[in-house]
Amino acid sequence: MNPITILKEKRILLGVTGSIACYKAVDLASKLTQAGALVDVILTELAEKFVTPLTFRSVTGRPVYTSMWDLADHVRHVGLGESADLLIIAPATANTMAKLAQGIADNLLTVTALAARCPVMIAPAMDGAMFEHPATQANRMMLAERGVTFVGPAEGRMASGLSGWGRMVEPPELFARARAILARTGPLAGCKVVVSTGPTREPLDPVRFISNRSTGKQGLAVAQAALDAGAEVTLIAGPISEPVPLGVTRVDVVTTADMAEATLTAVQDADALFMVAAVADFRPENQSDRKIKKTEMGENWGLAIGLEVTLDILSAVKEQREKTGYPRVSLGFAAETHDAFEYGRQKLLRKGLNLIAVNDVLADGAGFGVDTNRVVLLSSAGVLEEMPLLSKTAVAERLVHHVANALGKNNG
Ligand code: CTP
Repeated sequence: MNPITILKEKRILLGVTGSIACYKAVDLASKLTQAGALVDVILTELAEKFVTPLTFRSVTGRPVYTSMWDLADHVRHVGLGESADLLIIAPATANTMAKLAQGIADNLLTVTALAARCPVMIAPAMDGAMFEHPATQANRMMLAERGVTFVGPAEGRMASGLSGWGRMVEPPELFARARAILARTGPLAGCKVVVSTGPTREPLDPVRFISNRSTGKQGLAVAQAALDAGAEVTLIAGPISEPVPLGVTRVDVVTTADMAEATLTAVQDADALFMVAAVADFRPENQSDRKIKKTEMGENWGLAIGLEVTLDILSAVKEQREKTGYPRVSLGFAAETHDAFEYGRQKLLRKGLNLIAVNDVLADGAGFGVDTNRVVLLSSAGVLEEMPLLSKTAVAERLVHHVANALGKNNG
């Protein structure tokens, strides 16, 4: 895993309590560390029966804490809690949840949790009946009312062999939820952002279509960067197979007309639109509802396909925006193979954009399917930033930064 900006040098306290799901906590600690976080692990006495401190130390490269009495100074528990950006308790047993709800502080984890002032995320893991018990439910509600974020439990098979709601959710979801909690203080907190990505497809018949090479990677990176900046993100996705960031509201579309409808609806109350999709510009004039059979074409074999131009989505957004004022900021892309700068400037004006990210899709390291991009960002005032060759993630973070600026959301 590559380092992730929002996790870089963040101090994460991971409390691990006694459940077989402890093994998943090792994976979570490893992923957070690889992403650049400083992960301090506290194990309860029971957790140590399932997994050793050495296991966690091996993946985090940091000391692992197990007891109040093995710390160099007696106020370390307060220090651990005070310096943390986030406290995650995963897996959390019914017993630990009960102690946290009541403010009982009888081991290093519960003492630290009581002293901590950072956000807290809890991933319960227990037998389904224990989770459903009114006592556990009351504790969960009490903690949730105090601002604790609960992730899971999920339904499935448990150690007892029974099925029910009690399984700890998987590390990738915990990772994404932790990331979302850290994003709450980001520049786009409270903002609604719409991102379109991928290609669109225009059918010729039920088995054939016209499309382009877009894989959606740049738009997906923008969606993740907007999430990390704290935004609520609607992702309008053409047909793509890349994984979509957890936490977006995904709207799947196929044709340009579908994408236009979904985009015009989503931007009605949006702060920003990132129109990253590689929209198909042409569609067959005639669409057959049956497969076109070459054996039945006879004399017509080799007949040209008549094309018509599809709706320009950004122009439709421009028209709607002139009436409603939404989206407040609109960013488009210009995929060019020549005279990129001049075409980009014209598109910015024609499509009523605040910003346009121009890229030469034939340049080395840019374009479809690769993980890097080289972009020049233009506003109506001229070049805003000429980016070097960067990862699509880094490009996305720069774009989100500029859009936050345009919304007046970056402090300093
Ligand atoms: N776009 C759109 N609707 C279309 C085509 C493109 O909203 N029917 C958007 C793209 O998502 C992108 C911007 O317009 O943000 C520019 O797309 P691009 O393909 O570079 O330009 P075109 O408008 O297709 O113009 P040309 O074919 O002349 O390059």
